[in-house]
Amino acid sequence: MDINNVKKELGADWSGYHETLISALCNSNEFVSKINNYLIENAGKQLRPVLSLLSARACGEPNATSHCCAAVSEMIHTATLLHDDVADDGNLRRGVPTVKAVFGQAASILAGDYWLAQALDILTQCGKDVLACYTHAVKELSIGELIQMEKAESLDTEKDDYYSIIAKKTASLFVAAMKSGAISVGASPETIGAIEKYAYELGVAFQIRDDIFDYKPSMDTGKVAGADIKERKITLPLLCAMESSSEDQAKEIREKIAHIENTLTKGGKISGAEMEIIGQVNDFVQRFNGVAKSQAILEEHSRMAVQALAPLPQCWAKERLAELAEYVGKREK
Ligand code: FPP
Ligand code: MG
Repeated sequence: MDINNVKKELGADWSGYHETLISALCNSNEFVSKINNYLIENAGKQLRPVLSLLSARACGEPNATSHCCAAVSEMIHTATLLHDDVADDGNLRRGVPTVKAVFGQAASILAGDYWLAQALDILTQCGKDVLACYTHAVKELSIGELIQMEKAESLDTEKDDYYSIIAKKTASLFVAAMKSGAISVGASPETIGAIEKYAYELGVAFQIRDDIFDYKPSMDTGKVAGADIKERKITLPLLCAMESSSEDQAKEIREKIAHIENTLTKGGKISGAEMEIIGQVNDFVQRFNGVAKSQAILEEHSRMAVQALAPLPQCWAKERLAELAEYVGKREK
């Protein structure tokens, strides 16, 4: 599937979304404009606005509020990445240096604040139900990141913790994007429930795929492979591998990771000894089939996403949502 074709199919609604986004970000200050233009030029797939508009289209007739919901989803997503690249010391995203790498940490945090504030400004025009979708998501996103930080310290992540983190840090914004799209066209509670279920399962599948990328250095994902272990993040491929190993082997690998210094306290530098540990964790994941097992789990979530669409009436937007569930599971970027 080519996501750009879906944007073409969305037609005037895609243009409406884009115009809303650009006009919300317009600022007379040169430095602000420079960062904004850098972000707009290096935009990603814009999956969340696609999902938001498809949700509105599958549930009714999209309108100006639907365009606002789509713009808010992309603006909040961008704000989280601007903050995340400071938290993770991320220097490469979408194959280009991050705002943090080009303009510095403070600029990345403040630009994130600006995009978040502009999103809030749009939300003032969207009604309290749409606003509630996003206040909930922002709370979940922040808590998800904090739990992830806590687990990077304690290194005792189990599968339940992992699912709770990804539900909060990723699926919550998928849900807000799609639920708000459905609300914007006056969908029934039953339809909104179906959309929420789809968005949640898709968000989980999306993040598992992202976590698989980290164990696939051969893939050209525009990110640095091995970064998760450097950040002491124990994700699904490693958890699945640990499940297949003996308890002693799993304990041993957790102990090795404990020797990696938390990046936050170390300014992102990585020693030769740490590189060796990252290599050993990678070998462990390959040896115990962690990637294939995670892929099977994510495909199950994609299937559940498609099933959730059953109550929606048949239409092209519903078909695209089903195709997107498959695309998310197989994407290479
Ligand atoms: C990327 O995950 C980051 C997220 C999905 C969420 C980030 C959320 C915050 C920083 C908190 C909330 C912030 C605001 C502005 C409300 P990742 O680090 O696993 O993936 P990556 O490889 O893309 O960096
Ligand atoms: Mg990150």
